Amino acid sequence: MAMIKNKYTISQKIKLAYCLIRTKLLCRQARIIRFPFEIRGKEYIDLGTNLTTGVGCRLEAFSEKGEKTMHFGNNVQINDYVHICSMQNVTIGNNVLIAGKVYISDNSHGSYKGDEFDTSPETDPIKRDYAKNAVVIEDNVWIGEGVVVLPGVTLGKGCIIGANSVVSKSIPSYVIAVGAPAMPIKKFNFETQRWDKASRDLSCDK
Ligand SMILES: CC(C)(COP(=O)(O)OP(=O)(O)OC[C@H]1O[C@@H](n2cnc3c(N)ncnc32)[C@H](O)[C@@H]1OP(=O)(O)O)[C@@H](O)C(=O)NCCC(=O)NCCS
Repeated sequence: MAMIKNKYTISQKIKLAYCLIRTKLLCRQARIIRFPFEIRGKEYIDLGTNLTTGVGCRLEAFSEKGEKTMHFGNNVQINDYVHICSMQNVTIGNNVLIAGKVYISDNSHGSYKGDEFDTSPETDPIKRDYAKNAVVIEDNVWIGEGVVVLPGVTLGKGCIIGANSVVSKSIPSYVIAVGAPAMPIKKFNFETQRWDKASRDLSCDK
């Protein structure tokens, strides 16, 4: 396939140069941070190396014991308006590509599992105890535009999540999953080097 070229206009080049200088002043190990960029709890975030961000991203990390709760690997790219929130652990592997307007969180306001920890709807949502469950995004994952990744989810190595999907359960490695809730539609066959159709369940081997 031919390489697609992309030329910046002069004003885009000026903006890029401004972001590059600011990136190197604020966060040397990143490749480029595009501003505005909102970061809360920087001390609880490991930005990895060579991070690239689009404009308007928001990273929010909280920590009970002072440990880091958000970890980026190397060469991660997150596009415009990505919002990632961690309270327990959000780990993003190497070479992960995250499209714009993606939301990833390991926590939610309250618990609704039907057990003794359930939250009453009469409690103000903002005052509900946080329910937390780690999110892991393994190497070489590609997450499409507008995806939501909910607490407790692991996205296996090399998997692809289709645009606008809501991922509520873990997705095995080397699988393409789409929809709300996201279900596998294809799985990579390493013998034939092709994507085979997959049954729409989550029992594919990881
Ligand atoms: C997930 C994706 C890569 C799949 O591509 P593909 O394998 O070529 O998909 P196909 O066209 O063969 O579609 C296979 C089936 O999945 C469905 N499908 C594909 N993407 C879907 C999506 N995002 N949501 C719901 N269904 C989807 C198709 O309608 C088709 O359904 P059918 O079998 O009932 O006809 C692609 O559809 C996608 O969503 N790409 C993300 C684009 C994006 O966000 N880009 C940002 C750049 S960083």
